Amino acid sequence: MPNIKQNYSLKSHNTFNIAAKTKYFVECNSIEELQQAVKQSETGFGPRLIVGSGSNILFKDDYNGLIIHPNIKGKKLLKETHSSIQIKVSCGENWDDFVEYCVENSYGGLENLSWIPGKVGAVPIQNIGAYGVEAKDCIIEVEALNITSGEIKTFTKDECEFGYRNSIFKNEYRSKYIILAVTFELSKNPSLTTNYGAIQKHLNNYPKKNIKTVRKIIINIRKEKLPDPNEIGNAGSFFKNPIVNRVKFENIYDNFPAMPYYELSQDTVKIPAGWMIEKCGWKGKRIGNAGVYNKQALILVNYGNATGQEIYDLSQQIKADVKKQFGITLEEEVNII
Ligand code: EPU
Repeated sequence: MPNIKQNYSLKSHNTFNIAAKTKYFVECNSIEELQQAVKQSETGFGPRLIVGSGSNILFKDDYNGLIIHPNIKGKKLLKETHSSIQIKVSCGENWDDFVEYCVENSYGGLENLSWIPGKVGAVPIQNIGAYGVEAKDCIIEVEALNITSGEIKTFTKDECEFGYRNSIFKNEYRSKYIILAVTFELSKNPSLTTNYGAIQKHLNNYPKKNIKTVRKIIINIRKEKLPDPNEIGNAGSFFKNPIVNRVKFENIYDNFPAMPYYELSQDTVKIPAGWMIEKCGWKGKRIGNAGVYNKQALILVNYGNATGQEIYDLSQQIKADVKKQFGITLEEEVNII
């Protein structure tokens, strides 16, 4: 039976390094332990929340319930052909270790998602994405535990309802399923995705143009632009990039013709929230222990002892300014608890 701890500090369980506490906490290292913990906590423990590595969460307050921390390790080759390989990876595996393993073995598809903090279990929940690739591009299925019935269900890719930083696990099934494992299909003859930003330009400087080089480039870009959570608390992009209709886009564009944007369809355009936040003058600003990162305005940081509330208050001021200047309500990408 896994040990349920009481009044447990979450500081080492969230990359914002917020010193919130949870009333109860349990770590589970196997499916059996998870099933036992779920059953044992049916009554008397308050609400239940699943937290992997806490790399996309802001604890605004202490948590008055049970945090379940699944930490199951392992990966298994399921199927291999001359052109592809399927690998099932358990939720507690470190994401970037897995990406590195794929790249080292010349299994292509995930290299653009290099150096993203977090564990495999979190990957399908928000369908992580970077540099023109999303996790869904390589996901075949997701195995998850129903926390009410204790049953294990395998979700096909379609059933996961993946979208931009979104899936069924963030909506209808939020806190109803615990991701146990994710099956990826990787290519043994990979084509490179280099159309985002300056990737192709960087690639031109390398004699070998392969997934190892792409990983190297992405890691360099990320290290240059994004704060390392081991050095300065953060949870990556705090907001999503808003998707607006063309009329709205053109209204803004008329006033800011230098605005970067991505055309999504004939009627929809994505605008980088980081650009708008910078335009509102927030880049590099600091209020107490909370701040806006000086190299990427989409990232809020904890300069030391910020409380979750301080980070949250800062995010709300930013949101209000963006609304005032651009008429757009930013939506949080980070989960606020
Ligand atoms: N920009 C600014 N000022 C800033 C930040 C960005 O003007 O302070 C401009 C950039 O110059 C560029 C555009 O905004 O023209 C886009 O910036 P960038 O390429 O840095 O990416 P992003 O849209 O801010 C998204 C993801 C990141 C991902 C990068 C690269 C979201 C919410 N964020 O950020 O994901 O790494 O693209 O693909 O979609 C995360 O989800 O935590 C995350 C870091």
